[in-house]
Parts: sequence; C-alpha cells; structure tokens
Amino acid sequence: MLTLPKVEKLKPKSQPHNFFIWGETMSGKSYFASYFPNPLVLNTDGNSEQGQAPSFQIRNIRDKNGKLQQSAIKQLDDIITALQVENPKRPADQRFQTIVVDVIDDICVMIEQAICIDAGVQALSDIPYGKGWTVFNSTLQQFVMDLKSLPMNVIYISREISTTDENTGITTYKQSLKDKYYNVINGNCDLVIRTSKVGAGQNITYMREVKAARTKYIPENITNKRVLDLLISCQGMFSDEAIKRYQSAKKKESK
Ligand SMILES: Nc1ncnc2c1ncn2[C@@H]1O[C@H](COP(=O)(O)OP(=O)(O)O)[C@@H](O)[C@H]1O
Ligand SMILES: [Mg+2]
Repeated sequence: MLTLPKVEKLKPKSQPHNFFIWGETMSGKSYFASYFPNPLVLNTDGNSEQGQAPSFQIRNIRDKNGKLQQSAIKQLDDIITALQVENPKRPADQRFQTIVVDVIDDICVMIEQAICIDAGVQALSDIPYGKGWTVFNSTLQQFVMDLKSLPMNVIYISREISTTDENTGITTYKQSLKDKYYNVINGNCDLVIRTSKVGAGQNITYMREVKAARTKYIPENITNKRVLDLLISCQGMFSDEAIKRYQSAKKKESK
C-alpha cells in the first residue's frame, strides 16, 4: 500500500527553471536566452543562421498535394524524445541544459496550422463540435508539460504589443502571445522577464526587468553560476541587500 508523507513544513531551496521572456523586437530577448548554459533553440523566424546557439528550424512543410510533409507537431515531439533519450547519454559538456522556444507565438500558430492541414480545413473552428480547439489545447498543454519535465531550463520568448487608451492616452505594454495561450504557458513558468532598450546606435542600453516571480528567490539557492549572473542582471530579481550579502560572502570565501 502507498505510504503517505509525514505532515511537516518543507523548506525547498527554490530556483527558477521555466522562464517567459517578452519584449519589443531587437530588445535582447534571444541574446539573453543564448547566454544560458548549453542552449538548444527551437527557432521559428527563419534567421537561425544568425543565432549563436545550435538550433532547429520549426515549420510545417506541405508537399505538392497540399498534404503535410513535415508537421511542426511531429518535429517538436521528435526533439523532445531526443532530449529525453539521447541527451542524458551524452558526455556532460555535450549535454543541452537549456531549451529556448523562440518565439512561442509562432509555435502556437504552427500547431494550429498543422491540425488544420491534417483535417483539411481552413480554421480550427471548421472542425465540428469544437474538436479543433480541444486538440489544439491538449497539444499545447502536452508540449509545455513535456518541456517542463525535462531536467533543463526552459525559456519561452514572445514579442510585445502596446495598446493606447483613447481616453487617457496611456500606453500599456504586454506580451504578444494571446492571453488564453499565455495562461497555459505562464501557469508553468517561474519567472516572467521583460526586455527593453533605450537610446539608439552607440548609446543603446539594454534592460531586463522581472515582471512576475513564483516565489522570492535568493542568490544563494541558484546553483548555476552562469544563471545566477544572468538573473542578477535583471532588475527586481533579488533585493539589493540579498545581492550585497551574497557578494560579500563570496569575497570572504575567496580570501
Ligand atoms: N545586453 C546586451 N548587450 C549588448 N548587445 C545586446 C544586448 N542585448 C541585445 N544585444 C544586441 O542587440 C541586437 C538585438 O538583440 P536580439 O536578442 O536579437 O533581440 P530580440 O531577440 O529581442 O529581437 C543583437 O545584435 C544583440 O547582439
Ligand atoms: Mg530574437
């Protein structure tokens, strides 16, 4: 028979592994993600040659009859299987430690397209009894849960949209991923970061700010030094005292 755990208060040493990054074009989203340890990029925008990290180009390819010759859904499935099976067998320095979905908006559209092409319809709503949407939601859920269960960092990247209130003239910014998809992804993320830039040309400054965090993280709990440095570069990630405390402890250690 199954044994229940003891009633006790656990003190987990939490650190973030699932990230959602959004920001305007050219604000440093891909750049930031590429500095995570051993990244593998699932690229959608066709300029993967420009990236610094190894990548897969994700897309649906039709044959001359309009049928799917390569389905993005199958491609994602195959990559996840390889990460589950082949990745752990590699020597440590050849093991991918981070997976970057750049950009998740496009992946959602491709999943939608693949389902439509397979069913021979134009839109998910053309599939009777809402079944198109059901299949879509479960495919997206499965993708996110599979990625989450890998022993890796997962980074979802989205673009930015701005809306200006006609009455007040106030502009607000948010991720371009539609809210209903964002809710699926975000429910599985530990940290939401927005990237932005000010200035132009030689005077550009890149900024990162934490928009949401699952819990209050402290530097001492982040085991990977590289990830820690990246997180320290995000405004609002740790309190100033926490960073000072951590850095002075480090100094003492190295003396
Ligand atoms: N923190 C940074 N420091 C220096 N250069 C940066 C930084 N972030 C981005 N860049 C540069 O800005 C350009 C756009 O960044 P990129 O990450 O491709 O933007 P995005 O993915 O948001 O569209 C790239 O040429 C990159 O090298
Ligand atoms: Mg980019």
